[in-house]
Amino acid sequence: MRYCYFLNDYPLRKIFSVWDDTIGSRDSIYVVQTAPNVVARCILMTSDPGDLVLDPTCGSGTTAYVAEQWGRRWITIDTSRVAIALARSRLMGARYPYYLLADSPEGQQKEAEVTRSVPKSTPTFGSIRQGFVYDRVPRISLKSIANNAEIDVIWDRMQPDVEQALRDLNAEMEGFPCPHPVTSGGRAGKLLDFQRQEEVRLPSGETALTSEFLEWEVPREQGTPMTGKTLALWQDARKALRELELLERELAKPRSPVGEEKVNAASRSFEYALESLNDFIEDPSSAAASALV
Ligand SMILES: C[S@@+](CC[C@H](N)C(=O)[O-])C[C@H]1O[C@@H](n2cnc3c(N)ncnc32)[C@H](O)[C@@H]1O
Repeated sequence: MRYCYFLNDYPLRKIFSVWDDTIGSRDSIYVVQTAPNVVARCILMTSDPGDLVLDPTCGSGTTAYVAEQWGRRWITIDTSRVAIALARSRLMGARYPYYLLADSPEGQQKEAEVTRSVPKSTPTFGSIRQGFVYDRVPRISLKSIANNAEIDVIWDRMQPDVEQALRDLNAEMEGFPCPHPVTSGGRAGKLLDFQRQEEVRLPSGETALTSEFLEWEVPREQGTPMTGKTLALWQDARKALRELELLERELAKPRSPVGEEKVNAASRSFEYALESLNDFIEDPSSAAASALV
């Protein structure tokens, strides 16, 4: 081998959209006959049902035959009697599919069946310009999901199971020593504390328990629970905060035996515990402060 060409030696690119189903006509009845699928592709790309298609070189009548199949009107011309005779017998002997007009009462009914929607009751005029009722290839988009009436049926059926699973999960988690960082919803960034059953208000105004997952907070993937020294430091900080909160509440009461010095000392203990925790963990923003408030 003396020389090897590479694709990127020249500004060439691979062709991916080769129409390999359009090579000549099989079973042709005329010497020069275009394959029906080539004509069909051209007609479908360039016209609508009811449009007029002209082929001034009729030959065996492929254009007229395909136009008839797809609901287009047609005119075709040829100087050859042989061509006209062949085309006539082909067109007269062919079988064509039957379509329902979209602009007809039966069409409205069928359209509703195909699209699973309520049938239209607007007046119909039998105009072919509105096209036919076509089978649909399912195409899933956000809009189709949002407008899908079946979602309600699925929700009605599945939601009780989802709620039961959530109750089971929360019951199972009760008292679990490791906190869990919430990553979605109104309390994203906070930690769930399975040992502390307190009510908190969410930004939406709803209330939730600090110890329970809400539906959208349940992690989809297994995470890494807080363990070892991090967990111990977190528990110390939480204990210090509880003590501080308790003393603050006491201090607020009339004739409280708790003095300010005691509260200040508790506050310093908490700050120290929090600092120790934040110093130890790699990503302070993920834990302590949000976890403990
Ligand atoms: C290539 S064939 C047509 C094939 C056909 N359109 C198809 O796609 O299968 C050409 C045809 O044109 C016809 N023809 C040639 N000159 C013509 C003319 N001046 N007017 C009308 N038809 C003509 C020929 O008789 C022949 O049947």
